[in-house]
Order: sequence, then structure tokens, then C-alpha cells
Amino acid sequence: MAVLEQLTSQQAIDLENKYGAHNYHPLPVVLSKGEGVYLWDVEGKRYYDFLSAYSAVNQGHCHPKIVDAMVNQAKQLTLTSRAFYNDMLGRYEKIATDFFGFDKLLPMNTGAEAVETALKICRKWAYEVKGIAENEAQIVVCENNFHGRTTTIISFSNDPVARKNFGPFTNGFIKIEYDNLKALEEALESNKNIAGFMAEPIQGEAGVYVPSEGYLAGAKALCKKHNVLFIADEVQTGIARTGRLLATCGNCSCENKNCSGEPEVKADILILGKALSGGAYPVSAVLANDAIMNVIKPGNHGSTFGGNPVAAAVAIAALEVVRDEKLAENADKLGKIFREELGKLVEETKLVNLVRGKGLLNAIVINDTEDSDTAWNICMRLRDNGLLAKPTHGNIIRFAPPLVMNEEQLKDCISIIKKTILEFDK
Ligand SMILES: Cc1ncc(COP(=O)(O)O)c(C=O)c1O
Repeated sequence: MAVLEQLTSQQAIDLENKYGAHNYHPLPVVLSKGEGVYLWDVEGKRYYDFLSAYSAVNQGHCHPKIVDAMVNQAKQLTLTSRAFYNDMLGRYEKIATDFFGFDKLLPMNTGAEAVETALKICRKWAYEVKGIAENEAQIVVCENNFHGRTTTIISFSNDPVARKNFGPFTNGFIKIEYDNLKALEEALESNKNIAGFMAEPIQGEAGVYVPSEGYLAGAKALCKKHNVLFIADEVQTGIARTGRLLATCGNCSCENKNCSGEPEVKADILILGKALSGGAYPVSAVLANDAIMNVIKPGNHGSTFGGNPVAAAVAIAALEVVRDEKLAENADKLGKIFREELGKLVEETKLVNLVRGKGLLNAIVINDTEDSDTAWNICMRLRDNGLLAKPTHGNIIRFAPPLVMNEEQLKDCISIIKKTILEFDK
């Protein structure tokens, strides 16, 4: 078979099954084109994308401004490594640090790498600034977290599938219940060696768990009191997804030039990925102020591709799209309509227990057991009806369309989802 020969869906699936490791369980749909809120399969059928590559494609598929930036830069210079300077990285660092209000940025590629980077910075700060004895630092994390799949990160996961037979694990993490300030307070009070507290502002993979009002602000205040770094993993929630530039901006109107007003919670270490490139390229980053980031010295950390000129050009364009197209405002407005309309389903059918979320990061909880395949079967039916979504944990379906969606498209999607679920209920 010639490499560029047109494949049928079944041929593409067969190739992946035979030659690829089975580390994912994709919904059976083979996509070959994307534009804005739409995806097309190899047979030419069009779908609304309601996953956005796990919230990476906030700016919509193949956004022309981002693609142009990538192509133009790719023709000029793609990679130098950090052995030399390049003329794009500094520009990007200035724009991104201004955008999010931090002194410095450390560029990486994937979300998991950025999380690892944040953990390393936090530990080094603990030893060199806070004064914790070497190898004694502890980082507090939350039950049901999802921060990626590296060996250190799965060391503090409580997902048995992610952990089984991957030990031995990395020490130095204390797990507490999510959305429980008392548990955090107890952890901080009972141990003098705590360097940081890392949390997702909304637990996305766990099933879009939105913490109680004031949880993030309370956690930040406790961290401040105990001289512990508050690390926000906004890989999934960040960059306009939840109706604010950052989910840690809570319900304030953010004061950042790109939001407005004092952020409810400002992380000491902010982790970004996914939508930092609009899904065009793997770009992630850790942001912090000098007092923290300056613990990192040449040789302490790095990545051949981190901060490459294509990534820098793509990220600048991706952030400009978020600002110029007011994606946070759009996510806020459409998210309210989405939850209100889908909330009515809870009344209309016994199949849906609950709708929750913020901005355009939402989920419905299906009324069935965690190990049932009902959510999967609903997603298959949604696919047949032209909308792509995926269950997160068992019986929860996440709905996260690109943020460039307009109201008319959203209403069309709401009717597809309602029709599918009501049909399913029969
Ligand atoms: C909150 C959070 N952190 C980290 C990651 C890992 O990102 P990546 O898959 O790019 O390594 C994810 C991915 O879904 C995530 O949701």
C-alpha cells in the first residue's frame, strides 16, 4: 500500500491495531481533516468536535493564523536546541509572561514534562530557599488527580490502570482529598517538610469535578501561611477553556490585561500545555516569578525541543487568537447556555443524573454503574449523529468543544446531544 494512498476507516484502524502499541482505546472514527469546530472522517462525514483533543484545540482546528505562523517559521528555522539562542524564544517568553503575569517561563513540549518541571523547581526551591533538608521535601497532591503518565507522575496517581506493574515509584508525595481545605490544613500543619501543593483547578480527567467556591483561594491562602508553593496544573483548564484566561481566576474578572481585576488566586507555579499551541504543535510551559524560577541554573533541566522557534511562533499566535477572538468570554457565555439546556435533560430522562462544569469544560454523569458501557454506547450514537465526545471515567461524558464555536452551532450541538440521549433512553 502506497503511503499516501487514500485509506478507508477500517484500513486505518487495522493498521493502528497491527503496528501500533495498544495504549489507547479510541472511539472508532478515523479523522483526516479539521477546520474550526468541525472534523471530517476519511469517508467525508462531518462531525462537531466535542473533545478538542482534551482541550488542546481551544482555538479551533487548523486556525489559519496559527498554521501560517507555524508554516512561515518552519520555512525559516525549526530547531537549534538551547545550545544556541534563537530569535523567537525570547519574544515568546516576553509575550507569555506578560499575558499570564509572571517574571519567567521555562519552555517544554508536553503537559507531563511541564508537570515534572514544576515538581523539580518546587523541590529545588524547597532546599535552596525554604531550607528543607536535602531529600526530605514533600509535595501534597490530590486524590483522583491526573497530571500525566511519567513514572514520577503515576507515583502519586490513584488510577490502578495507570500504575499497575509500573513500580517502583517515586517518593515524596502526600495525597489528600480534593476540594477539602481541612485535609490540606492538616497536611500542612503536621509536616514541616512540605514544599508545594499541586492541584488541578477543575479535575478534568477524573470527570470534570469543579471544587467548591473558594477552595482554590483557600488553598492558596493556606500555602502562603505555611510558605508552601501553590502549583496550579492548568494544562487542561487553562487558556480560556473555563470562561476565564485561567481557571484559577475563579469568578473574578481578572485584572490581567487579558482578563481584568485581581485574580482570585495566583499560582506560585503555573503549568500550561495543550491550548498553548492551539493544538498545532506540542508546546508546554512552567511560569513562576524570579524568586522561584531563579533556582534553575544551566544544566539543571532542559529539553532538546523545548523552546524551539516553531513552538515559540505557534504559541505567540495561539495566545493572540485567544485574546483577539475573546475566547474566554465566548466560553463563559456558551458554557452557561450549554449547562442550562443540558440541565433540562436531568428532568426529562432518568439516563442523565447531573450536568456540571465551567465555561466550555462540562460533563454529564450517566445514570449507570461506573463499569457499565452506557456512556461509551452513547458516544457511539453521538458519533453516528455527527458529534464526537468520549467518556472520561466510566459513566461520565466530557463535553469540551473548541472555543471558537458560535451560538448557532452550539444550539445545533445541544439538539444533537438531547436527541441522541432521549433516543437512547427508549
Ligand atoms: C491536568 C493535566 N495535566 C497534565 C496532563 C498531561 O499532558 P500531556 O498529555 O500533554 O502530557 C493532562 C493531560 O490530559 C492534564 O489534563
